[in-house]
Amino acid sequence: MDYQGGKDVWGIAPHGGTLVNRIDLLFSIDSSLNCVELDTLELSDLELIANGAYSPLKGFMGKADYDSVVQNMRLSNGLPWSLPITLAVNKDKARTLHKGETVNLVYNGTVYGVMTVKELFSPDKKLEAERVYRTADLDHPGVKKLFARPEVYIAGPITLVKRPEKSKFNDYYLDPAETREKFKELGWNTIVGFQTRNPVHRAHEYIQKTALETVDGLFLNPLVGETKADDIPSEIRMESYEVLLENYYPKGRVFLSVFPAAMRYAGPREAIFHAIVRKNFGCTHFIVGRDHAGVGSYYGTYDAQKIFSHFEEEEIGIKPLFFEHSFYCRKCANMASEKTCPHDKQEHIILSGTAVRQMLKNGEHPPKEFSRPEVIDILIKGMKEIYTKI
Ligand code: ADX
Repeated sequence: MDYQGGKDVWGIAPHGGTLVNRIDLLFSIDSSLNCVELDTLELSDLELIANGAYSPLKGFMGKADYDSVVQNMRLSNGLPWSLPITLAVNKDKARTLHKGETVNLVYNGTVYGVMTVKELFSPDKKLEAERVYRTADLDHPGVKKLFARPEVYIAGPITLVKRPEKSKFNDYYLDPAETREKFKELGWNTIVGFQTRNPVHRAHEYIQKTALETVDGLFLNPLVGETKADDIPSEIRMESYEVLLENYYPKGRVFLSVFPAAMRYAGPREAIFHAIVRKNFGCTHFIVGRDHAGVGSYYGTYDAQKIFSHFEEEEIGIKPLFFEHSFYCRKCANMASEKTCPHDKQEHIILSGTAVRQMLKNGEHPPKEFSRPEVIDILIKGMKEIYTKI
């Protein structure tokens, strides 16, 4: 490998060259400072900036970076970056803030970070929606969230002073410096990252294992931050990943750890973001299948692959591995795609996410060609518990 961590980290070069670390858990909090309330998305971004997952960002974006990202998918220094990472406050709060002031970043009454305010600016949200999400339609969950946020963005470098509380899957939260160490320990030089917000079904497994044939290890990195209400909750998904790995993956070839970011549903732009962030976690390759990070029919099946051609491969620095829409074919008696299967569509087992969720709610098992039975058992049990609580 051409980058052995130079100064501080092992493996592939982080985006921008240095893995950011802005965590100071011994920081003495001054509770008399002005407080800025975070939402769950901003809290997760705070942690991911601080632990280097969003390297080279050191704080929430100022206007020059924000404008450049929205317009050109690059930071103001030219480095590729596809999603705005911003902190929003309402106008009344903004009036109390001054440039140069240090503020406490608070969630539910607890201080998690501090920020030096460098800038306050009002975004053009319609433009942000149209450029980032390719639509200003409020039915799009990312656009809806964008317009529901307060009106003013505040920017500046941050420090994380307290770790956000984790779910019961505490052991699966690793910082990029830790995943890099883990890959080193495992002896992996080439690592393929896999983003998911869903339980892993057979098509996921097929593309992961196909990729794994050519690299040393698979980094299964499910997103567990905020998702839309009808996505399957991360606690249930985590159990399904554990049972899947236990039964169907060789030990020593897969490493599972979570990505605590919120889902934006920004399709193509989010695919670039997901790839860059996985590079920061130490991956050399990244899987982009059909409609990556998409929702509804806002994006074309392969838009999230096509967008990579806007950049030189070295600029992104992690190799995307593109996969066709895959499915089980009864005639082939195998997983396949249009590229490898000559048979009629009727032979293909394809179920939409909505159809699967409906089956799970009814306690029905999708066919084993679609999803591993052990995974389905966990999902049905988990969904039943949720629905009896409601
Ligand atoms: S995502 O929002 O995290 O992208 P999901 O968990 O469904 O959603 O997908 C994870 C990854 O698997 C993405 O790269 C996606 O493109 C890919 N993928 C999902 N289903 C298929 C499929 N049937 N064929 C090929 N790729 C797929």
